[in-house]
Amino acid sequence: MNELRRDHGTELGDYLIGDSHEILSKKLKDDLEGKVQLILTSPPFPLNNKKSYGNLQGEEYLDWVREMAPVWSRLLTDDGSIVIELGNAWEPGRPIQSLLPLQALMSLVQHPDANLRLCQQFVCYNPSRLPSPANWVTINRIRVTDSYTNVWWLSKSDYPKADNRRILRPYSKSMQKLHERGSYNHGKRSSEHHIGETSFLTDNGGSIAHNFLEVEQLDERREVRLPNALSMANTSSNDYFLRTCREQDITAHPARMQVGLAEMFIQFLTDENDLVVDPFGGSNTTGFAAEKNKRRWISIEMQEKYAEQSRIRLGDPVVSEKIRA
Ligand SMILES: C[S@@+](CC[C@H](N)C(=O)[O-])C[C@H]1O[C@@H](n2cnc3c(N)ncnc32)[C@H](O)[C@@H]1O
Repeated sequence: MNELRRDHGTELGDYLIGDSHEILSKKLKDDLEGKVQLILTSPPFPLNNKKSYGNLQGEEYLDWVREMAPVWSRLLTDDGSIVIELGNAWEPGRPIQSLLPLQALMSLVQHPDANLRLCQQFVCYNPSRLPSPANWVTINRIRVTDSYTNVWWLSKSDYPKADNRRILRPYSKSMQKLHERGSYNHGKRSSEHHIGETSFLTDNGGSIAHNFLEVEQLDERREVRLPNALSMANTSSNDYFLRTCREQDITAHPARMQVGLAEMFIQFLTDENDLVVDPFGGSNTTGFAAEKNKRRWISIEMQEKYAEQSRIRLGDPVVSEKIRA
């Protein structure tokens, strides 16, 4: 990795400092061509109030996103995937949503040289999201809380590597009882579906995941069944990260991805030792989730100050590899 600024890493991965476009389209272009199984990232999105990590707006933002499509596509294996988490954006000073995030998606899938398609849309709901945009939600009370992000799964193939059996949801209590009992009400339902006599008797280890993901439990008494149910909520890993940031007087990255979300897509779309890349690494949620699941990883981040937060994540006792300077 000549001319690359590698801040730290492990046996499995590297945290690089620099502009990911520059690195992926030039410095690492040949090394990584056709080798990346998953690009998992949350890019900066067009915000009205600039966060501390900065972001482009309007047409400039779209051009910037558009440029990534062929560069990323070239790096993917034939059955590789791109998973992008993108929140909503609002028009400056107006109570209307910006179309930029949707246009950004379109610019990726419609790029003539990238051959990308939308495999599936996921919605990532966060019930504890603070009311925003504040002006319209809490002051004027004419809009409701914007409480989810979109996660777009793209690929160069209609059949990217994927196996939903790796991300099963725990069975509901009633389903567990049904398995114990070994019988249930079969026959015709009012919906006209015919439920076979044995259709639900096989224990497959869990039920099939949904594309609606709840990152935190809305009501503690309500059963939430997610892939890796616990890791999608505030897990001990997240606790370790936040606790250590607090101890070291570090302000945690303002737009962190959920660890459980990253883990879910890594388990769903890659095998052990596959390569996962995050071009907008931030606190390195992707690298941490990859490391925990024994995948190789590369995270690229422009702002050097976030490297420390990646070191904190990789210092979590759940990760067995030691950090190498
Ligand atoms: C939404 S945050 C990602 C947060 C990350 N997923 C996490 O969990 O911490 C986007 C990050 O991209 C970085 N960034 C913006 N433009 C970049 C570029 N051209 N190359 C590399 N990093 C960039 C920003 O500094 C910011 O940390």
